[in-house]
Amino acid sequence: MTRDPLIALRPWESPEVTSWGRLPMCAVDRRSGAMPLDGRWRFQLLPAPDSPVTGDWASQHVPGAWTLQDTWDLPQYTNVRMPFDTFPPAVPAADPTGVYERDVRIPAAWAGRRIVLQVGAAESVLLVHVDGRPVGVSKDSHLAAEFDLSGVLRPGERSTLRLTVVKWSDATHLEDQDQWWHGGITRSVLLYTTDPLHLADVTVRARRSGELRVDCRVRHAAGALPEGWYISGEVDGRTLTQDEDFDRANAEDERVSAFLGEARLLTTVPEVRTWTAETPELYELTVRLHRADGTVADTSHHRVGFRDVEIVGRDLLVNGERVFIRGVNRHDFHPLTGRTVTYDDMRADLVVLKRFGFNAIRTAHYPNDPVLYDLADELGLYVVDEADIESHDHAHEIADDPRYLNAFVDRVSRMVLRDKNHPSIIVWSLGNESDYGANHDAAAGWLRRHDPTRPLQYEGAAKLDWADPGLASDIACPMYAPIEDCVAHALSGKQTKPLIQCEYSHAMGNSNGTLADHWAAIEATPGLQGGFIWEFWDHGILQRVSDGRPAGRAGAGLHGNGVAAPGHRWAYGGDFGETVHDGAFIADGVVLPDRTPKPVMYEHREIAAPLRVECYKHEGIVLRNHQHFRGLDWLTGRWELALADGRTLSAPAVLPDLRPGETAAVPLPFELPRDGGEAWLTLRVSTAEDLPWAPPGTEVCAPQVRLRLAPRTVAEPAADRPVQVDAEGLLVHPLLIAAPTLSLWRAPTDNDELGGLAPRWRAWGLDALVRKVVSVQRDASRVTVLAEYAGTVGVVRHRQVFTPVESGILVDEQAELPEEFDDVARVGSVFETVAGLDLLEWFGQGPWESYPDRSAGAPVGHHRVPVDELFTPYLRPQESGGRHGVRHFTLSGPDATGLGVVLDEPRQVSVTRYRAEDLTGAAHHDELKPRSGCVVHIDAAHRGLGTASCGPDTSSPYLVPPGVHRWSWTLRSL
Ligand code: GAL
Ligand code: MG
Repeated sequence: MTRDPLIALRPWESPEVTSWGRLPMCAVDRRSGAMPLDGRWRFQLLPAPDSPVTGDWASQHVPGAWTLQDTWDLPQYTNVRMPFDTFPPAVPAADPTGVYERDVRIPAAWAGRRIVLQVGAAESVLLVHVDGRPVGVSKDSHLAAEFDLSGVLRPGERSTLRLTVVKWSDATHLEDQDQWWHGGITRSVLLYTTDPLHLADVTVRARRSGELRVDCRVRHAAGALPEGWYISGEVDGRTLTQDEDFDRANAEDERVSAFLGEARLLTTVPEVRTWTAETPELYELTVRLHRADGTVADTSHHRVGFRDVEIVGRDLLVNGERVFIRGVNRHDFHPLTGRTVTYDDMRADLVVLKRFGFNAIRTAHYPNDPVLYDLADELGLYVVDEADIESHDHAHEIADDPRYLNAFVDRVSRMVLRDKNHPSIIVWSLGNESDYGANHDAAAGWLRRHDPTRPLQYEGAAKLDWADPGLASDIACPMYAPIEDCVAHALSGKQTKPLIQCEYSHAMGNSNGTLADHWAAIEATPGLQGGFIWEFWDHGILQRVSDGRPAGRAGAGLHGNGVAAPGHRWAYGGDFGETVHDGAFIADGVVLPDRTPKPVMYEHREIAAPLRVECYKHEGIVLRNHQHFRGLDWLTGRWELALADGRTLSAPAVLPDLRPGETAAVPLPFELPRDGGEAWLTLRVSTAEDLPWAPPGTEVCAPQVRLRLAPRTVAEPAADRPVQVDAEGLLVHPLLIAAPTLSLWRAPTDNDELGGLAPRWRAWGLDALVRKVVSVQRDASRVTVLAEYAGTVGVVRHRQVFTPVESGILVDEQAELPEEFDDVARVGSVFETVAGLDLLEWFGQGPWESYPDRSAGAPVGHHRVPVDELFTPYLRPQESGGRHGVRHFTLSGPDATGLGVVLDEPRQVSVTRYRAEDLTGAAHHDELKPRSGCVVHIDAAHRGLGTASCGPDTSSPYLVPPGVHRWSWTLRSL
């Protein structure tokens, strides 16, 4: 039996205990000037918190999860279900517990000062000992804990600091977010000192009128405050004045306290430059606490953004404007270090978001690393700051469990106390997927009193009834609501709150179909204001294939093209030997695990375009400034005219001077050539100046209009050349190693699998249709082949007519899908080429991957991409690499020989190194062997992608119906 009281009291199974010996959270940042304690610590991993600590020490890097640093405890992924089946607040007896130790020498110069230990984050319970003496306990894996160790650490002497981190606890039941389970100290540890007389908190309120109010709380380590202390402050060199009304009112009400000092400073900044996500203007504020003799006892620095947030009617307004929320959900994540992220990592995340048109982040589902908010202030992103509460598996039991009441209020209030001064935060969130109970209202009550300046949201309350989400939500913030439901709500006459989806458009695998339709509805419907895509990251962990271990921080590094380093793969649920897991559901972000943007990012960028080409009228091109707050002077443009005959003309664009929302007609920049066929005009818009998130010349959007339709194609005359087919009616061609056959199957996307489509397609036998030739007829040089493709429940009749024409062979196809095959993945032809054709050039949408319901961001033009770069390495191999609206293409080798295809109309085409069945059978990319030739699909119809892995499927215009499908194409040799 241990004699350590911290262990004996088993705080890890006491939800009422949220901390012991911990200092109140505040917004005074002590990171600069502190003594960092990051680096290597002695470490041992015990099987349970009450197991004896041995003399057997290894070491670990702090900050970092031990699950990624070569211990026996590996990462595990579960979504809703808990990794163990004990009921809250209990946890299993087997409970990995990391003991971290290091010696610290306290400088003699710290004598007489207050000494504070800050542990940035520990999962999930932190116990603190100094020289064997218990000094503190803290819970909440995503907020720092501070302990006043002034009486415990002795200046000039050496002490041993022990941080014990218990992995499973009552608090784990509140941290059941959909992510990897880890253990360890995941943010920095440091010691800082202050004068005994110190700033206990600073609250900044800065309004768009330029009014600035700074509230300071002052304490003294000894309790009673010395006489005569006072506060001063400056904002960008402008001195703030003491609010005498505040002092007088406090004095009259006898609120002046001997041990809690309160002071308020005021000023108004004239002609203030206001903060918005588009214009992230920050002012430097310095607050000083003085002793009676004028000397400075403490200083606090803040960056202030002057802005207002309010809800008026059903609109969320920033500085009076109804801004669109183009958001994404973001976890703290890195493929080598898990939840430990550096300044550079976070900056890189936000830079990617800014470059792709996002303007908002929801910190799903816990307060992110504090640096994130500094960066959001600086780069310009609105933030919904979310408390670390997700009791998903036991949501209903916990929401009203009074034993957890304290934890709810603790988690919400400490987040707000830490983050309240960030202008980027425009909304607070009570957490995620935790039902709705009295515990939420308790936290909401505290929050509304403490910070009346920001709205509050909570999906668990808002989804019960969008019209009346109770005390806990000012915003209707459902998740994955179908577009039609959102529009219907906005039109119902019952909407009372802004509708901003907290999660929508689930980005798992090849996904985000209908994103543009969402936005068309949002922009057209008053009451709809946007939402947060689920989510930013694909949480693949870099894993060595040889031994199945996480590569870790010293790992193989990241290549930056989405592909794991050789000998490695991106691990998802189940890959670390876990038996309880939720597979690839952890990989549902808009970037791959090395932050390579998935093609959906280009779709988003275009949807978010700050400058729109509205339409083409006789007077010219109408441009619209589609921003909320700024002009176009930060942008520069270039016109591009793509003609079907292969020409691309280009000319500089002069952007008009437009205020937000304004339009102007500009003349057509080119004399449209008479010939050349179909013509598309694109405005390539890029940054004109060096921005914190983009160098000049970074493309921001490429809006496009069609100037001329394709002329009706005139059939090529038949040529007198034989077409060769074999006894099975299969085309024989020197460039093809597999003749064109009918394909109704695509390697199921995650949406196809989890949305229940792929299981249906398999049941119909579409993955293994059996082809039987029915007849081969020759009529002069034309060959007609009839074939049947049998599934388990129906037969498709397929006709191919091969006609030699001047340029090559015209292939005219027809497939008749029986009624049973309602809603299939594709109807089209598939063939395989000889090796050596490694470059695809096409006229159509591109250059990036696009699908019928995700093609708004891929302008029509002439594109060329090496075949090996066409494919997107989605974590679980699946349909990938498609290009929408292809009119014609060539596949060529270095000597420019190869094959060319001209399509009857814009079609979905894909060229990859994999057959659909290669991809279908693989769980990871390292299992795949690229073929040397190309697998080419030409689809008469291709099903949209939708988002059915979590949320709505695609909508009806993007479905592939049964019945007759016809398509034709001409194959030629180059
Ligand atoms: C939501 C949840 C997220 C994530 C997502 C699916 O229900 O809030 O945390 O699980 O679904 O990927
Ligand atoms: Mg959940």
